[in-house]
Amino acid sequence: MAPRTREQYVARRSKDELEKLKVAGQIVGETLELVRAQIAPGVTTLELDKLAEDHIRERGALPSFKGYRGYPAATCIQVNDVVVHGIPDDTPLEAGQIVGVDLGAYYDGYHGDAAFTTIVGQPDKHHRLLDTTQGALMVGIAQALAGNRLKQISKAIQEYVESRGYSVVRQLTGHGIGQQMHEPPQIPNFYSAGEFTDYELVLEPGMVLAIEPMVNVGTAQVQVDEDGWTVRTADGELSAHFEHTVVVTDDEPLILTLAQGARPLSDVSEYRRT
Ligand code: MF3
Ligand code: CO
Repeated sequence: MAPRTREQYVARRSKDELEKLKVAGQIVGETLELVRAQIAPGVTTLELDKLAEDHIRERGALPSFKGYRGYPAATCIQVNDVVVHGIPDDTPLEAGQIVGVDLGAYYDGYHGDAAFTTIVGQPDKHHRLLDTTQGALMVGIAQALAGNRLKQISKAIQEYVESRGYSVVRQLTGHGIGQQMHEPPQIPNFYSAGEFTDYELVLEPGMVLAIEPMVNVGTAQVQVDEDGWTVRTADGELSAHFEHTVVVTDDEPLILTLAQGARPLSDVSEYRRT
């Protein structure tokens, strides 16, 4: 039998499945906004994690991350040089820190996954790193079009980030999502011909993608702490991360992980500046 093509191994979700994914996505978006509103000096990341888990459960969902490969919390919260997979703890946040919150919700058999990054104590302060990372997410989403190849997402993100003088993390990628939190395809935030077979995937309506650029001020290199989770920049410089779960449609990409519910990309073009 001929090997399955990439197109055959990436799920295309039915209308019914998309309805469930929309609920999961909205729960994720709501929870992120709840957490965002509580980020302040003196608050611990464990307190934020509890707030998130309580809300996810109140909405009839489960925290996707908790217990995933033994992960101990509902959220990943990353401060300053932590890129992703920061484990919440009892250290109080301090004004001026860069803090990222990443979480997932599992509702009626389907997952949503999203993240944002902001500055503690100065939520409206312009920070070029945060604007660049959120912008990179949006230009990536803009390429999530039926008929495009997946590498167009990767290239758009890399070009946007590098043109602004930052680097994209290469050791971690975005991913397909649905019945599992991590499904094919892998979605790298850079393009290097031949490195990922999924680059050549032709996107089709119904594919659900978690796009998540991780952007560093200094080197792209990252390393994992002894806890086996915490991913940091190798040079100790700052990093930021934004993520949405999106659906490829016949028309423009649909963003699922918004507090207001699913919206097409063009409705979100005035994205929030953090
Ligand atoms: N959102 C992240 C991802 O897509 C974090 C999940 S790792 C977990 O990979 F262990 F915390 F679940
Ligand atoms: Co993810």
